Amino acid sequence: MQLSTNHLLGIKELSPQDISLILSTAQQFKEVLQRPVKKVPSLRDITIVNLFYENSTRTRISFELAEKRLGADTINFSASASSVSKGETLLDTVNNILSMKVDMVVMRHSASGAPHFLARHLPGTAIVNAGDGINEHPTQALLDAFSIQERAGSLEGKKVLLVGDIMHSRVALSNIYLLKKMGAEVMLSGPPTLIPVYIKQAFDIRVEYDLKKALEWCDVANILRIQLERQNQVLFSSLREYNLSYGVTSKLLRSIGKEIIIMHPGPINRGVEIDSDVADGTQSIILQQVENGVAVRMAVLYLLAGQTIMM
Ligand code: CP
Repeated sequence: MQLSTNHLLGIKELSPQDISLILSTAQQFKEVLQRPVKKVPSLRDITIVNLFYENSTRTRISFELAEKRLGADTINFSASASSVSKGETLLDTVNNILSMKVDMVVMRHSASGAPHFLARHLPGTAIVNAGDGINEHPTQALLDAFSIQERAGSLEGKKVLLVGDIMHSRVALSNIYLLKKMGAEVMLSGPPTLIPVYIKQAFDIRVEYDLKKALEWCDVANILRIQLERQNQVLFSSLREYNLSYGVTSKLLRSIGKEIIIMHPGPINRGVEIDSDVADGTQSIILQQVENGVAVRMAVLYLLAGQTIMM
């Protein structure tokens, strides 16, 4: 089976069959990663550049590890240490890198749509979106879905709550696209100023501003960080007040009288959107999400490389 696309720009562009194919391929790679020898030579002749114009810990390391586990040659590019600081454009930078015979580009950029721009100008190179502005973070949604399936058995019919800064979260948008396509139910919770009306209307999603009621409804709570770096206006009174209304605490979880799965894409702001005893507790699968990210990204790169060879 093959993907219906040559790039991974967003979950928006994927079909349910594409998502299922990525998740089942990731399961096979997860099994490879349990072996003493964790490498397969599937991408031995492929060269991949990791083009990060924005900071990252998990995504960048996870992609690099996935590439190395598949036997690809990898190049890491950091915008702050490059000729971007001398005024070079995104397209010039990428064209220069590609002239050195690079097959795939993994890109994170603060501008929404930057990977789509590259895909339009470089149709013969596979572009993988590692997070673009406030638009999408497709591999995060895929690894979140893989982790839910692993813990809860399936996505179909699962009640998934996204809590927090929906407005500035590319993780939220990718999760909404994916969960809806795969038959899960989605609810949003957070301050009204951080839940845009257009998302509620465009996706026909339930919004519950009372966090306790929202937690009582869900099977899985995916807790999102307040993206202060993307906010240029005051959208809530203080982090202390945010924690009092929307912080997930162990006291709150005990009060709902059932076990739910706790997720967070990271980085965590402990004591703001989630307390430490919840993040590190038995209901949390936060570190499993990170572990699964490598297998999911191996699957994405492997499947796209199949398309690249045919381009
Ligand atoms: N989840 C995530 O994208 O984390 P990083 O910003 O550290 O890559």
